[in-house]
Amino acid sequence: MTAESLDLYRSAGLAEVDPEIASLIERELERQRGTIELIASESFSWPGVLEALGSTAANKYASGYPGKRHYPGCEIADEIEQLAIDRAKTLFGAEHANVQPYAGTTANEAVYLACLEPGDTILSLPFAQGGHPTHGDESNLSGKLYNTVSYGVRRDNFLIDYDQVRTLALEHRPRLIICGGSAYPRIVEVERFREIADEVGALLMCDMAHFAGLVAAGLHPNPVPHCDFVTSTTHKTLAGPRGGFVLCRAEHARALDEAVFPVLQGGPLLDTIAAKATCFEIAGSEAFAGYQRRVRANADRLAAELAGRDLDILSGGTDSHMLLVDLRSTEWTGADAEKRLHEVGVAVNEIAIPHDERPADETSGLRLGSPAVTMRGFDQEDMAEVAAIIVGALRADADLNSLHARSAALCARRPLYPGFRGYCSFLAG
Ligand SMILES: Cc1ncc(COP(=O)(O)O)c(C=O)c1O
Repeated sequence: MTAESLDLYRSAGLAEVDPEIASLIERELERQRGTIELIASESFSWPGVLEALGSTAANKYASGYPGKRHYPGCEIADEIEQLAIDRAKTLFGAEHANVQPYAGTTANEAVYLACLEPGDTILSLPFAQGGHPTHGDESNLSGKLYNTVSYGVRRDNFLIDYDQVRTLALEHRPRLIICGGSAYPRIVEVERFREIADEVGALLMCDMAHFAGLVAAGLHPNPVPHCDFVTSTTHKTLAGPRGGFVLCRAEHARALDEAVFPVLQGGPLLDTIAAKATCFEIAGSEAFAGYQRRVRANADRLAAELAGRDLDILSGGTDSHMLLVDLRSTEWTGADAEKRLHEVGVAVNEIAIPHDERPADETSGLRLGSPAVTMRGFDQEDMAEVAAIIVGALRADADLNSLHARSAALCARRPLYPGFRGYCSFLAG
């Protein structure tokens, strides 16, 4: 490398230094702008959050915790992390917060390391019925280290079978009961889980990754008062940076912090922690509560419009930002329907329907969510048009080109990040 090129790298921005990556990022933004994004675990982050993510805070090594770092020069890192911790605690009314987990997965693993021994029993909802692989699935580390017992949803209404949770808890005496998941559209009745946990002397964890934004806005009961641990991501309904955090009772604070660092992770991502702080600040505002109310209204309207056009909605509707379409009465598998919808500019993901008789690689469901489209301004009328596009695409004689044009027209009417090129410019000052 010549001295000249080093000067270039020191002073130039991404477009000049790496036009290939710059152009891929620009193309990714165009893809996001041109797609009706209904993947329930996605949203579009606030510009302020994206700016914090693309900041020089990323340069600092700050292993440890505020006031107890392994490197000098962490005074400002301490202030950033403390602000994120304090805001998380205030937002959710928690006694303790750890904002360092790199992801929802590590947030969950940290809780297990804090309170379980290998071989201990976990009682959780399996992935095939709406749980998450990190809740003890054999494909995940949690399923390899711990003994998993699964409760399920009822066959008649697809709601959690709380009687079964209690029966299994009494039989297996789990050390930890886990509630929350990635494909459960209804309210998680955490108080009922608490009663069962107390009856058998188990700890209780709620993974609110999907509905944390609704909790912040007061639209889903807050699990924090009832749980020993609450885990979450910041990038789903909270519309923050990609990452995780854990809230817990004060008595578990020390074990949790040690589990996150040094047991599970290395140095924290300070830029992400700064972005989490910004996300928590926004999530406490009345404007955010208004956004979440629109997320809920749009999910309800989408469910009603799809049901009105003869698609089965699992459990008959939703209490949250997500809904599950049951394709068993159609000729579609989840995988084929996902592909077909993608061809008309609608992004959803296939999902297993609980108690499905079809083989696991031929799912019978679709999971749809409203946070991302609501973020770009879709209203209930737009959701009616989205439902019409979806139902049209699943007809045997669908005119895919005209449906795609309708999706594009909807996206054009609700611009995403107008004027932005996809990455923050360091050089702009
Ligand atoms: C309920 C739940 N927990 C944890 C995770 C894991 O989050 P991450 O992808 O950040 O590891 C997810 C992600 O899909 C999730 O839905």
